[in-house]
Amino acid sequence: ESQLIIKERQQTTFQVEELINLLDGGKEKTALRRSIEQTILSDPLMKTDKIGYLTREQKYVQSVRRMMYFFTDLAKRNKWNIEDPHCPEMLFLSRSLSSVVAFMIHMGAFVPSISSFGTLEQVSKWQPLAKECLIIGCYAQTELGHGTNLRRLETTSTFDRNTQEFIVNTPNLSSMKWWPGDMGKSANHAMVMAQLITNGENHGMQAFIVPIRDMTTHKPLPGVEVGNIGSIMSLEDTDNGYLRLNNVRIPKENMLAKYANVDRSGRFQQTGNNRLMYASMMNLRIVLTREQMIHALQKACTIAARYSCVRKQGSLTPNGPEIPIMDYVTQQNKVIPRIALAYALDFTIMEVRHRYVQFLADVTRGDLSNMAEMHAISSGIKANASERTVAGVETLRRACGGHGYSMASGLPYLLLSVTGSCTYEGENTVLYLQVARYLIKTAANISMGKSVDGSSAYLAENTEARCSATSQEEFYDHSLLDACFKHRSKQLLQSVAMDLQGLLAEGKQQMEAWNLLSIQLVNSAKAHIERYIVATSASFVRKLNCSLKVKKLLNQLCSLVALHQITNFPGDFLKDGYLDSHQLDLARKAEVKLLQSLRHNVVGLVDAFDFRDEILGSCIGAYDGNAYERLYDYAKNDVMNKNDVHEESYQYLRPHLHRG
Ligand SMILES: Cc1cc2nc3c(=O)[nH]c(=O)nc-3n(C[C@H](O)[C@H](O)[C@H](O)COP(=O)(O)OP(=O)(O)OC[C@H]3O[C@@H](n4cnc5c(N)ncnc54)[C@H](O)[C@@H]3O)c2cc1C
Ligand SMILES: *[C@@H]1O[C@H](CO)[C@@H](O)[C@H](O)[C@H]1NC(C)=O
Ligand SMILES: *[C@@H]1O[C@H](CO)[C@@H](O)[C@H](O)[C@H]1NC(C)=O
Ligand SMILES: *[C@@H]1O[C@H](CO)[C@@H](O)[C@H](O)[C@H]1NC(C)=O
Ligand SMILES: *[C@@H]1O[C@H](CO)[C@@H](O)[C@H](O)[C@H]1NC(C)=O
Repeated sequence: ESQLIIKERQQTTFQVEELINLLDGGKEKTALRRSIEQTILSDPLMKTDKIGYLTREQKYVQSVRRMMYFFTDLAKRNKWNIEDPHCPEMLFLSRSLSSVVAFMIHMGAFVPSISSFGTLEQVSKWQPLAKECLIIGCYAQTELGHGTNLRRLETTSTFDRNTQEFIVNTPNLSSMKWWPGDMGKSANHAMVMAQLITNGENHGMQAFIVPIRDMTTHKPLPGVEVGNIGSIMSLEDTDNGYLRLNNVRIPKENMLAKYANVDRSGRFQQTGNNRLMYASMMNLRIVLTREQMIHALQKACTIAARYSCVRKQGSLTPNGPEIPIMDYVTQQNKVIPRIALAYALDFTIMEVRHRYVQFLADVTRGDLSNMAEMHAISSGIKANASERTVAGVETLRRACGGHGYSMASGLPYLLLSVTGSCTYEGENTVLYLQVARYLIKTAANISMGKSVDGSSAYLAENTEARCSATSQEEFYDHSLLDACFKHRSKQLLQSVAMDLQGLLAEGKQQMEAWNLLSIQLVNSAKAHIERYIVATSASFVRKLNCSLKVKKLLNQLCSLVALHQITNFPGDFLKDGYLDSHQLDLARKAEVKLLQSLRHNVVGLVDAFDFRDEILGSCIGAYDGNAYERLYDYAKNDVMNKNDVHEESYQYLRPHLHRG
């Protein structure tokens, strides 16, 4: 174990275990998580080869083998309730599985969409098959030509009254399904989103279960062409596929009919409020935000923080001893705000999950009043978390210098896999524009004197025109910081709402005006969500029942998240004179002081994320701090070094070398 990292741990001012329990949701949860991790990581059949050594095909095959064993054997033996996205095991499982895995879409989207869209009868028919992996499904929505604009999807499902069947077609190139995970080589069933056509009339998008491969030979069924879409940036084990359907007939019962059905004569009937469907699908976005984004940021923080404490480079006195790079304030400014953010986002998403559970209970009672707000929050948090995670992981990767560029650091892998999250489950800009739509409606309600509550209540409050801070210390105060963020968000919204009014008054069409102002609209949505993160994480910490030491530390992290934003993007805070340049200087000084006071807890803070070395997958970020030994070991084991002479390259070198 590196002496440097031992020294870091001796400086830690709090009990790391307390913070670990807090992030897990209690002591018992930590114990449960660790026992799950132990079961998975000690099972030889679950072993993953080191990242960076496998080809794309090997990754896919390994992933299929591992996950089939996991679902049909390991999880069952341990009675893990894997198909219930709310069960505590599920939250910990995805963490333990470290790298991306196969059948995420099968379990995470196909299975839950059956209960979201299906009648009780359909759920009881399909769900047991899917849960037992007797069928493998995918969620086939996106097409080659359309993703975001769902209304223009071109796949059709036409009712044939004579045979009581649907005929499913992807009539041309742009209509073929493109991207669905698990679809290319693994799935034998697809949840196909298609335009429902009965008696010549189009009734819009509905979900259909379409068998695509033969259950014994696994060959594509007649009329079906299916394959993998080819090499992608990362996440290759997810088997993203394409699918063409040519007059594929499915029985009438395969249209999922919880909210709409077709009778024998082809008459279409809406039977329920399909907004309920969106309510149940929001969960996936919340779950993914934590599992795919926040966990990735926490891992990157762990790697960069530990490495920065064992990496020595340069000194602070002429000819003095070399110091760990973590002692440089610029390095602290790269690493510590990302750690703070990782905490703030985690606290925020815990709160969002909590609110979502309440929201679902309301919805079940028929109360849909919080739908718009819940949608805005879950979309906005997803967009913000994914974008910031990608930016944060890249900052942390560069903070590790040359070794951050090596796959051995684990950082390139994190970066490449998490960058996809800006696109899937809603393209981020599109999501922000949806948040903006909600905000513009809220602004209209406010101007009509209607009451607003929940996360946007502040938009109707009066705020000071200027920030009152006169000292550095005041910039640690959560309510002062919150006031800055409230003011900025309010002001951005008011200004874009006024511009919108202006353009409409000039006679511009609504959609054209919206497009002209969309950059401002996105900024306004970002400001609202940032304020939500700043306020929610701070109030989460306020309510925590924990030791004073931990509370103080977490309060500092929350202040840092807000301060870092103000000092790095001061424009909107300065614009209307809410902050002046003197106050900005105070905020900058406050931030540097905060970084320094957090410095000696850096390793403790990332140890509290409690990622085992196997899950971290990094040669430079392991718990014991022995970075160089592991890097050397990694190089020695590389496939290129199997033999001292690389026969194939030598074949080209030899004629030239031997000429002289
Ligand atoms: C790793 C990965 C896994 C995926 N898995 C699945 C899956 O399992 N099943 C599935 O069905 N799909 C899947 N997808 C597809 C994914 O859902 C879509 O790619 C995503 O919804 C974005 O849609 P798009 O590709 O059409 O982008 P586009 O909508 O074409 O976006 C391109 C650009 O246009 C902009 N834009 C589009 N519309 C607007 C607008 N109204 N206003 C302003 N700007 C706009 C966007 O902001 C973006 O900058 C996956 C994608 C990836 C990358
Ligand atoms: C695909 O077919 C649909 C409907 O038949 C049509 O509207 C669309 O323009 C076609 N697209 C292309 C690229 O041919
Ligand atoms: C605006 O007010 C209407 C009517 O009171 C309400 O139904 C709607 O949800 C409100 N919209 C927002 C975004 O608050
Ligand atoms: C996300 O929110 C944070 C502040 O909470 C802010 O620093 C950042 O710019 C936001 N990013 C995006 C892309 O919205
Ligand atoms: C806070 O935690 C302590 C010790 O864990 C416990 O005794 C106390 O009841 C808790 N208080 C609240 C308000 O939950």
